Amino acid sequence: MTTYLRSRDPNVFGRPGDGPLKVLAEVIQRRRDGAYHTITVAAPDIAERAKPGQFVNVAVEGPGTILRRPFSIHRVSSQGPIAGTIDFVLDAHGPGTAWLAERQTHDIVDVVGPLGSAFPIPQQNVPCLLVGGGYGVAPLFFLSEVLTRAGLRVDMIVGAANAERIYNAIEAKRMTASVTFTTEDGSLGVEGLVTDAMDDVIAATGTRVIYGCGPMPMLRAVSLRAKERGIPCQIAVEEHMACGVGVCWTCVIPIRSAKTGQLRMKRACIDGPVFSGTRVGWDVSRWHVPDGDAVEDVAEPGTPIEEGADE
Ligand SMILES: Cc1cc2nc3c(=O)[nH]c(=O)nc-3n(C[C@H](O)[C@H](O)[C@H](O)COP(=O)(O)OP(=O)(O)OC[C@H]3O[C@@H](n4cnc5c(N)ncnc54)[C@H](O)[C@@H]3O)c2cc1C
Ligand code: FES
Repeated sequence: MTTYLRSRDPNVFGRPGDGPLKVLAEVIQRRRDGAYHTITVAAPDIAERAKPGQFVNVAVEGPGTILRRPFSIHRVSSQGPIAGTIDFVLDAHGPGTAWLAERQTHDIVDVVGPLGSAFPIPQQNVPCLLVGGGYGVAPLFFLSEVLTRAGLRVDMIVGAANAERIYNAIEAKRMTASVTFTTEDGSLGVEGLVTDAMDDVIAATGTRVIYGCGPMPMLRAVSLRAKERGIPCQIAVEEHMACGVGVCWTCVIPIRSAKTGQLRMKRACIDGPVFSGTRVGWDVSRWHVPDGDAVEDVAEPGTPIEEGADE
């Protein structure tokens, strides 16, 4: 049986009144989750518009921090005592993320969002497998909530280098039918990579759609495994971004056209970050250089997108 996904959103700027906003948002809450920081900011209009897979672009301060920094929308809250908030997860490793990790409750941060495309949602009631690596699991919590609310079964594989870098294991267990952890050092769950657990989970759950977010080599491996099994796979890429709004062409990745099979350079910030994993040109991309050799046939950044819809 073919699994149909609801088609992705058009260009994020295509619908006035539903596009991204720039807001000065108050930090409502901050907490430490293992190796990560989770920040909750009050941004009711962004929370209302946000869909799983989309991201926010946050202004940071300090030396070398002219550009905003993109972060996946981890969760939104539109109801309850702290309503109109968005959460994002930080892996503090450079000046921008370190500055954000130091923000205190009631500090103000300058946020643009929601940006980018959202994960398409299955039109049928089929089991979904969500595969996350490191902080890449962040948008999958939001996705899990939306899929579960729609009555779909959600299973998760969460991988990281070690147990400390598994994001919020307790919450991942709470919100899914099953969660399998993998760590490269074996300190939690299956020793190895997320792909080492995929076959067993797919067999046990009857997975019909796979979603992934994490480092590019992980997304490549997950996409190829999904393709081998004929399972539709949607991934959110976390490519470097300079402007985040489609202007600079920093974030391009090669995507194979569904119609013609030809590779076209697409901007991860505005055409993505969600793409069909099986349509990414993994073998001609700059993140996969076989045997350390230079890849000759990478399309130049700046190659214009052909006219017409890609779907
Ligand atoms: C869609 C998306 C979602 C993300 N979600 C998360 C998340 O949920 N949590 C998280 O921790 N991280 C996430 N990231 C990664 C996060 O944006 C980076 O970790 C962050 O920008 C690092 O900033 P830094 O100053 O701390 O570190 P640094 O690595 O020192 O700073 C990176 C700086 O270099 C610039 N830069 C680097 N390479 C390039 C390039 N090729 N072109 C242009 N500028 C470049 C960056 O813009 C930035 O100014 C996401 C990235 C994307 C694209
Ligand atoms: S980051 Fe500038 S076009 Fe995508």
